[in-house]
Amino acid sequence: MPQIVMLVGSLRKESINRKLGHALRQRMADRFDFVVPDLDLPLYNEDLWADPPAGVTALKQAVEAADGIIVVTPEYNRMTTPIIVNAIDWANRPYGKNSFAGKPAATIGASPGAQGTAVAQNLLRNLMMIPGMHVMGNPEVYLTVKDDFFDAEGGFANERTVAFVDKWIAAFESWVGRFS
Ligand code: FNR
Repeated sequence: MPQIVMLVGSLRKESINRKLGHALRQRMADRFDFVVPDLDLPLYNEDLWADPPAGVTALKQAVEAADGIIVVTPEYNRMTTPIIVNAIDWANRPYGKNSFAGKPAATIGASPGAQGTAVAQNLLRNLMMIPGMHVMGNPEVYLTVKDDFFDAEGGFANERTVAFVDKWIAAFESWVGRFS
């Protein structure tokens, strides 16, 4: 099965984006294998390449082996989070050893707010193009997550959400196929 690296832009245990990533992986388990790297990495520091942190090496290896990238992002101040920016910075370096070039990719995200990460994802897609990811532009999925959004098994509680997300999943599968 094609392998997908899922970057989750929140470190907290009860993160709605971590839960979203989990629900998405459940729905895509029949078509992709997933790697979810630990993004609790030191802030980017050129000096650390002398003895790179294990998490950075693992991230770069996972991205290089991947057939596609999914970024699940929260919205912080109408931006993606420093966790995502930092992960992209690390795997884009050292100079000449960018791990992302040519990888098909997509963004998705959740927030308790009405805009559901729309602004953050819009900026994030631009950022992801810099290291050469081929970013899916549509369909766009911005999710407003309230208490009853996930069911007891960690899936999507609402059938309309399932239908909406399934269109995005089908589009992503086809997007990945175009670059394989
Ligand atoms: C937020 N939050 C937020 N929400 C939003 O919809 N738009 C925004 O611009 C912001 N800005 C923002 C800044 C900072 C520093 C924090 C910590 C939070 C709220 C955010 O969506 C909410 O905390 C989410 O639950 C964060 O995602 P996780 O950690 O639950 O995945």
